[in-house]
Amino acid sequence: MTDKKNQVSRRQFLNYTLTGVGGFMGAALVAPMVGFAVDPLLKGEKDTDFVYVMDENEITNEPQRKTFKVDQVDGWYESQVDRTAWVFRDENGEILALSPVCTHLGCTVDWNSREEFSNEFFCPCHDGRYDKNGVNIADTPPTEPLHAYEYKVEDGKLYLGKAKSRKEA
Ligand code: FES
Repeated sequence: MTDKKNQVSRRQFLNYTLTGVGGFMGAALVAPMVGFAVDPLLKGEKDTDFVYVMDENEITNEPQRKTFKVDQVDGWYESQVDRTAWVFRDENGEILALSPVCTHLGCTVDWNSREEFSNEFFCPCHDGRYDKNGVNIADTPPTEPLHAYEYKVEDGKLYLGKAKSRKEA
């Protein structure tokens, strides 16, 4: 005598099989669409790439203002945005490329723009001051140094990457 409880009928077998195959095919169709829709959101900004800014032999001990463009990806929207750096060699001959964005509230700093604060970066919004190396001067509003761009020199050309905080440095 056979145990009918443990047997699967032909109809049940077909149901299970078709449901399984249908589910698999549905997932195979939907997964790429979900990936396409979500992918740009996961990518984030593209501005980690290094961008040519100037020739190495043009870098002096005096900060020079250099503007360059970086690609930016924001979701599905790609654009080019301007970046600015103050580029020079410090007293040790090391290249420094400083962001002009004040670390207090984000205004733009200028180099050597005030007679009374010569050889300093000055922020006109709240009288923020930084020394030549971009280090914030005590008792002025900024609480950390100007951010510095990552850089690399290849074949005599200076490339800048992302501006990073030097707070921990
Ligand atoms: S934003 Fe520069 S000092 Fe306030």
